[in-house]
Amino acid sequence: MPGLIERYRDRLPFAADDPVISLEEGSTPLVRAPVVSEAAGADVWLKLEGANPTGSFKDRGMTCAVSDAVRNGAEAVVCASTGNTAASLAAYAARAGIGGAVIVPEGKIAAGKLAQALMHGARVIALRGNFDEALEIVRELTRKHPIALVNSVNPLRLEGQKTAAFEIAEELDEPIDGLCIPVGNAGNITAYWKGFQEIGQRPKMVGFQAEGAAPLVLGHRVERPETVASAIRIGNPARWEEAMAAVTQSGGGIEAVSDGEILDAYRMLAAREGVFCEPASAASVAGLIKHGARGATRVVCVLTGHGLKDPQTALEQSGSVVPCEPSLKAVEQAILA
Ligand code: F0G
Repeated sequence: MPGLIERYRDRLPFAADDPVISLEEGSTPLVRAPVVSEAAGADVWLKLEGANPTGSFKDRGMTCAVSDAVRNGAEAVVCASTGNTAASLAAYAARAGIGGAVIVPEGKIAAGKLAQALMHGARVIALRGNFDEALEIVRELTRKHPIALVNSVNPLRLEGQKTAAFEIAEELDEPIDGLCIPVGNAGNITAYWKGFQEIGQRPKMVGFQAEGAAPLVLGHRVERPETVASAIRIGNPARWEEAMAAVTQSGGGIEAVSDGEILDAYRMLAAREGVFCEPASAASVAGLIKHGARGATRVVCVLTGHGLKDPQTALEQSGSVVPCEPSLKAVEQAILA
């Protein structure tokens, strides 16, 4: 499959001769989920966004945002990030041959994401603060300097991310009536709703936040967001109004799930569906099982990032290895025990 801009150019703001920075993102698997379907009492599919080139849905938005930055002559791109946007920015900036800088909350991003950002050569700034503070600072920074801001406050990010809705519609014979999605900065739920509207579909948009970082559920910002799902550890989402509009217009909802529920879904997806996603992604499935999807019976859960992004949480949440002497007998005992 070609990259997103090539695949959907007629529905994206790119002309035929515009520069395209791509890693052939998008066209990700949509797999049926029998175990989740049974638990939720609905037909459920999983959109595996971890299959994107850098392991998260951010690549959809980043191909558009970085291509646009290059088109506009930017020499560098910057973002605030809980990790995945940083990894994606770093890869696409490297591909484009421009500078990349990312501001992340110190000690609060998963190891895989940090490794990616560093390997791709971005300047990684570990802020002694949280994501919300980082975003405020980069917004000000990019007003002062000729550096392109590629957080989802940049409309090109939403343009790219809306294409996941097109893919879902093209892949299934009948339209879905519910979409379950984790919500952090609230760009992705906004983008999906835009995409579905552009093709005349209106599934209920059901967003899930972690209990300790649930400003949209509480109706007020959270000063010190906390959750094991570090990707969505956000207390003041930039796309707040747009996300709530998507929820209201579609007849959906925003609900909270606890860290325990997120981790239960995370382990269940890996052990019983064979799908390894990161904790934040599992919020979509945890939420569907706990709250339902406003009566929807054909539902897609968006699994936003790959499980390999966060090996530390995975190891903490799984069984231990079995030590063994190097003999057939010992291995037989170890396997059959
Ligand atoms: N899932 C994952 C794995 C994410 O990385 C994010 C956001 C979300 C869900 C929520 O999406 O912000 O559009 O509502 N990660 C951003 C980042 C904030 O910096 O990587 P959202």
